[in-house]
Amino acid sequence: MSYFKEGEYALIRFEEKKFLKKLLKGHALNVRKEVLKFDEVIGKPYGARIGKFEVFKPDLEEIILLGFERKTQIIYPKDAFYIAFKLGIRKTDKVLEFGTGSGALCAVLSQLAGEVWTYESVEEFYKTALKNFRRFGLGANVCSHNEDFGKADVPEEFFDSAFVDVREPWHYLEKVYKSLKNGASVGFLLPTANQVIKLLESIGDMFGDVEVVEILQRHYKTISERFRPEDQMVAHTAYLIFGKKVRG
Ligand SMILES: C[S@@+](CC[C@H](N)C(=O)[O-])C[C@H]1O[C@@H](n2cnc3c(N)ncnc32)[C@H](O)[C@@H]1O
Repeated sequence: MSYFKEGEYALIRFEEKKFLKKLLKGHALNVRKEVLKFDEVIGKPYGARIGKFEVFKPDLEEIILLGFERKTQIIYPKDAFYIAFKLGIRKTDKVLEFGTGSGALCAVLSQLAGEVWTYESVEEFYKTALKNFRRFGLGANVCSHNEDFGKADVPEEFFDSAFVDVREPWHYLEKVYKSLKNGASVGFLLPTANQVIKLLESIGDMFGDVEVVEILQRHYKTISERFRPEDQMVAHTAYLIFGKKVRG
């Protein structure tokens, strides 16, 4: 059985509320006049119920949404999880990604890949992503570059797949194309339809099997007598565009 250790992050549920907290001795969480002392959590098994609180080991979605410092817009787990499987990543793969931003997508890709090479041009964001990885013990197989991808010396025919999350990806298509192995998958995330149209016009004959998809995720209230959707949802994050490198 696994037990909570001091210094570990815990996902704490209280009624409909969720908190991600580092378990430090002498610290506590106060919610609606109820107190959870972290000294009482340390040493308890994962999934412990303590008074009105439930305490779990956080999953990657909770770590990203509740724990990651965000200096940039991030790719939400609903999109990132789909991207990671859509790229067909295997344990031996080398995956290219830019821009790193706060590292949300990178953290997901690194769970499946052998190695992730990620590029971020802004030093502040590059450091934020590294801090997020360190804080939650993620990204051991991530090779982070504080460089503009357009100017970086990137190996050719090296990557098994790539994902691009920058505002004007059409400037980098040729370089991404060259960096990929034959038939490798590539993906892009773009928030507006105008950008998608511009990208489709720019892809030319470099990538085939092109798809555009949008992921809508609706959460439900889990009260059995009044089971129904939540009142609010995130209606739009971005469009996802996928293709595969073609030759000749
Ligand atoms: C929307 S954020 C990426 C968010 C990231 N995918 C995540 O999930 O946290 C876009 C990032 O791309 C970076 N960027 C833009 N152009 C770039 C380039 N040519 N090379 C490297 N990074 C670039 C920006 O500085 C910004 O941090």
